[in-house]
Amino acid sequence: MNKIYFFILQAVLLQLAGSTSLRFLKPNVEVLEVSDLSSLEVSLHCGEQYEGQQIHWERNGESISETGNRITVTIDGLRGGNFTCHRANGDLLNHTLLLVHPVKFPKGGVLTKSSDGEFVSCTARNYNGQFHCSWKWHQERNKRAVVYFTAIRNSSLINCTLDSDISGLTCIDKEYCPYSEEPRSINLTLFVRNLYRLEEHQRTFFIRDIAKPDKVNITKIEDDEFEWRPPKTWSFPCSFFPLSYEVKVVPNSHDCDHTGSRVEKMETNGTHYKVNIKRPYTFCVRAQDPLTNKVWSDWSHHQKRKHRHTSEQ
Ligand SMILES: *[C@@H]1O[C@H](CO)[C@@H](O)[C@H](O)[C@H]1NC(C)=O
Ligand SMILES: *[C@@H]1O[C@H](CO)[C@@H](O)[C@H](O)[C@H]1NC(C)=O
Ligand SMILES: *[C@@H]1O[C@H](CO)[C@@H](O)[C@H](O)[C@H]1NC(C)=O
Ligand SMILES: *[C@@H]1O[C@H](CO)[C@@H](O)[C@H](O)[C@H]1NC(C)=O
Ligand SMILES: *[C@@H]1O[C@H](CO)[C@@H](O)[C@H](O)[C@H]1NC(C)=O
Ligand SMILES: *[C@@H]1O[C@H](CO)[C@@H](O)[C@H](O)[C@H]1NC(C)=O
Ligand SMILES: *[C@@H]1O[C@H](CO)[C@@H](O)[C@H](O)[C@H]1NC(C)=O
Repeated sequence: MNKIYFFILQAVLLQLAGSTSLRFLKPNVEVLEVSDLSSLEVSLHCGEQYEGQQIHWERNGESISETGNRITVTIDGLRGGNFTCHRANGDLLNHTLLLVHPVKFPKGGVLTKSSDGEFVSCTARNYNGQFHCSWKWHQERNKRAVVYFTAIRNSSLINCTLDSDISGLTCIDKEYCPYSEEPRSINLTLFVRNLYRLEEHQRTFFIRDIAKPDKVNITKIEDDEFEWRPPKTWSFPCSFFPLSYEVKVVPNSHDCDHTGSRVEKMETNGTHYKVNIKRPYTFCVRAQDPLTNKVWSDWSHHQKRKHRHTSEQ
């Protein structure tokens, strides 16, 4: 198991004035949990082995007046900082990134909710144990960074890697067995920051509740008959991982989410459909796991422009 996980468990909660506490998040990163934006005194330590040495400090690269191995600094509002301690000749000895976590503030200062109403959305394209979580950064925040993340199931750490655009995590649960029940949920924790403001997000879910098939592959179109296949990425064999489909025929020039009286709609376990409409239309099909009935795939569609004549995918 990962050392970092133990660090979190051992997280030192250093009680400060009032309801404020300083929390160890990971090496060299401390979090000040605040319930309001009044100014606070925080003590910082350069390191045991530097006791008795001449030490000066910088805050975000600028000298501050406090000196010595242990100093007390004032933090106003959300203004944390990167505090570095130096020898008299300027050599860097150590640093503490001090972040401020406004615990009583509504979330949304660093990330924004996506269309599903969540800050962090997770999906799995099959039952192989892999899943992906993503989030959207607040547009006006451009000093953004991911500070820390962890995904845990039944006290075991799941291997996750941060996507290169820092807007998602790709995880693989090696112990996940697609053929048996999933008795324990996955707990995902994400700490993000903009400048020195920290935000914490958590999701708890089962793979079976986030399984979202990729788009269905429409393989044959002849006159008004359609055939399709499960997405290649869905779990096989089909007998164990069935898919059911929703077919929709909408008037041309409307998208697949269109509803109205001229919409033909049905659910099926089959993989073909014949349209009996003479006017131009759009044929739409999407898939979901019929055993969970949770998440639909995105729509696959085909436009039939003119009867008897050219059609385009
Ligand atoms: C550096 O500072 C951190 C606190 O941010 C402290 O935990 C660590 O022990 C220090 N490192 C050394 C080498 O003293
Ligand atoms: C804080 O300062 C240290 C030492 O200069 C540097 O290594 C680290 O990247 C800085 N962290 C941030 C978030 O600026
Ligand atoms: C959870 O972990 C414990 C200890 O590692 C193990 O004995 C137990 O079988 C696990 N439970 C599940 C549901 O995997
Ligand atoms: C975690 O997953 C990544 C990407 O799949 C892989 O490169 C890495 O070796 C894995 N780490 C562990 C500890 O399994
Ligand atoms: C997982 O999250 C749930 C709800 O957030 C919480 O009750 C539970 O204690 C967490 N489990 C672990 C192992 O962290
Ligand atoms: C759809 O099926 C065809 C025929 O089997 C295949 O060549 C194509 O790669 C598939 N497309 C996708 C997106 O899976
Ligand atoms: C499709 O199959 C599922 C089980 O695999 C069943 O519950 C459902 O009733 C079927 N639906 C239709 C429309 O046949």
